[in-house]
Amino acid sequence: MSDPSSPLPVFVVRDPTELAATAADWFAELAHAAVAARGRFTVALAGGSTPEGLYRELARRTLAAGKSEGGAGVPWSDVHIYFGDERYVPHDDPQSNFRMARETLLEHVPIPPAHVFPMPTDAAQPADAATVYERILAADFKTSLPLREGPGEGKSVAPPNASTTAQQFPQFDLILLGMGPDGHTASLFPGTAAVHEQQRWVVAPWVEKFNTFRITLTPPVLCAARDVLFLVSGASKADVLHNVLEGPYQPDVFPCQVVRPAPGRLRWLIDQPAAAKLTRQTMTVDR
Ligand code: 6PG
Repeated sequence: MSDPSSPLPVFVVRDPTELAATAADWFAELAHAAVAARGRFTVALAGGSTPEGLYRELARRTLAAGKSEGGAGVPWSDVHIYFGDERYVPHDDPQSNFRMARETLLEHVPIPPAHVFPMPTDAAQPADAATVYERILAADFKTSLPLREGPGEGKSVAPPNASTTAQQFPQFDLILLGMGPDGHTASLFPGTAAVHEQQRWVVAPWVEKFNTFRITLTPPVLCAARDVLFLVSGASKADVLHNVLEGPYQPDVFPCQVVRPAPGRLRWLIDQPAAAKLTRQTMTVDR
């Protein structure tokens, strides 16, 4: 993927507990920097058990700090929460990423409800829900809507003076991502068109392996973020992680590889079991 002699942007910690603690430290640091620079911190949450560990740690720290404004060292009242992807189920469904985030984090920290933007899953069609979320992002990030071409969608909906080369994308301060055992991330799954989407901000792919629709941010939005942090844990991820980070670029097989933000904006935080098959130099975390 990158110059084999350069170290990977990969930080290795001992275990899931240290991974959650380190990720919580970084989350707080990024939040403070964003609020100081721009008055708010916009973060897209990931689903899955590894990101869940971070949410529980942030809630634990905030509770320990007495749910104060700066609980867990995070300026919660200035945090705006979005989602990187969602299963197309009701928000109270056990499969819902929003439900998981609500139960492990959002109910335990002082975030104004108006600053939480779940992906809608109640539209007549999943594609409509994707469009609704694009409108939510456009309003909150104050950017023009994405260009939209394709059968039946007619001309682009961007303002007349927009050009395809000037396509804007919402720029999150932080996008959290997990990595599935098949190398997927968010809901960008192997062999799906969503992996190659370059104009839409949000799409609603059918995921054959789960026999369900998903809603997901697209690669250009993931790549536009100021910071992207992958959280990966466990020996079961070691082989795929070696392929993703040290193998040839083949995003149709390993969609994680499509997440290539500007230099210095991508970090992987992984535990030692997940790092077991890596051969290139990685970083260690000083805690
Ligand atoms: C989802 C997630 C998905 C997840 C990875 C990693 O909705 O399932 O967005 O991309 O982050 O599958 O999940 P684990 O950390 O549980 O392996």
